[in-house]
Amino acid sequence: MSMNQTLETIFSRSSYRGAFEGTPVPREDLTVILKAGIAAPSGCNRQTTSFVAVDDEALLSALKQIFPKPSCQSAPAWILVFTQEIEGVDGHCYHVQDYGAAMENMLLAIKSLGYETCWYEGNVRNCAKEIADLAGAPEECRLVCVLPVGVPADPLPEKKVKKAFEERAWFNGFGKQE
Ligand SMILES: Cc1cc2nc3c(=O)[nH]c(=O)nc-3n(C[C@H](O)[C@H](O)[C@H](O)COP(=O)(O)O)c2cc1C
Repeated sequence: MSMNQTLETIFSRSSYRGAFEGTPVPREDLTVILKAGIAAPSGCNRQTTSFVAVDDEALLSALKQIFPKPSCQSAPAWILVFTQEIEGVDGHCYHVQDYGAAMENMLLAIKSLGYETCWYEGNVRNCAKEIADLAGAPEECRLVCVLPVGVPADPLPEKKVKKAFEERAWFNGFGKQE
């Protein structure tokens, strides 16, 4: 397989749930990560996803009390991801797809800048409103995901085994490889 930097990043990314070094994530890097989220495609270009990067120590420690996931505690920055249910011109609301695309863009940007992260969504469901309130989010913006960001302090995990190519992808029809 011929590789370039983008493909290297895609294939080397995995969810990191270890501790982080104290090294701060510079604003410049956080801005690039947020811009990667903003650059994602969105249904009917409704751009329903919004983002808050948190690097303020007091706010971070308050958030960490609300969402005390051990693997997020040492992260020097978090990115909070919000969605808004806005209909497209076709009457369909693509907000879930929109934030999925934004998330993947940010996961790859984070990895390519030398940081690690994990997409936390299931785990934040119960405290989403509290996190959103603390971040000053307007009522129409719902918190969906949290991304801790930082330099990893632990070894990277073994990559998750993905199902075989033949089980999930084909050419010219289901089950066909030719
Ligand atoms: C929609 C979504 C929600 C997720 N929520 C969580 C979560 O709450 N906690 C967690 O530890 N990982 C969460 N993850 C990360 C997945 O567990 C992880 O992507 C999956 O196990 C595959 O591993 P990989 O990212 O290393 O390829 C989530 C991922 C997605 C796409």
